[in-house]
Amino acid sequence: MAERKVVLEGKELTKDFKGLRANENVSFKLFEGEILGLIGPNGAGKTTLVNMLSGTLSITSGDVIYNDRSIKGLKPYQIGRLGLIRTYQIVKPFPGMSVLENISVGAMFGSKDKVYSSKESKEKAEEIADFVGLSDLKNQRADQLNIAAKKRLEIAKALAARPNVVLFDEVMAGLNHKEIDSAVQAY
Ligand SMILES: Nc1ncnc2c1ncn2[C@@H]1O[C@H](COP(=O)(O)OP(=O)(O)O)[C@@H](O)[C@H]1O
Ligand SMILES: [Mg+2]
Repeated sequence: MAERKVVLEGKELTKDFKGLRANENVSFKLFEGEILGLIGPNGAGKTTLVNMLSGTLSITSGDVIYNDRSIKGLKPYQIGRLGLIRTYQIVKPFPGMSVLENISVGAMFGSKDKVYSSKESKEKAEEIADFVGLSDLKNQRADQLNIAAKKRLEIAKALAARPNVVLFDEVMAGLNHKEIDSAVQAY
């Protein structure tokens, strides 16, 4: 059997905030094609780990290897352009822009292997709005969406960036059972 490729590896990752160690020596390997879950109660350090992997927070010690190279110290946008994309637990749309415009931004500034024109970005955004079940709301302003739709928009923006790996941070948190069932069916 061919050896499976490791796409993302955390090596003894530690994050210290003032007086508080949020992550201590966290190591993991994500293999190509694998879905890896991270569980733990509130405050366990899940978001902090995502923040270190995506360059949103500096790493106190340890390393992140993505596609055979260290990405430690790179800026979030540089990491994003390498195809490692994350979503935010506390959703971060551009509030005054429409759903479609928000998704287009993901398409336009995503992975660096292809630069999308504004027309191509819009086409890609339409396709993804449909895929995540936001077609009916595509012209709504992002700040007018309910939380379930905002969470879908987070996923849409991430997918529009043509990721190689997506780090989903609590995409279902805050949704009721019906909304979760509906989101799971959509994907
Ligand atoms: N920017 C920060 N500054 C100081 N403490 C933080 C910061 N971010 C998270 N923490 C603390 O780190 C711990 C882990 O938080 P977090 O990673 O958000 O956990 P989880 O996502 O698993 O709920 C918590 O005690 C939290 O208060
Ligand atoms: Mg969290």
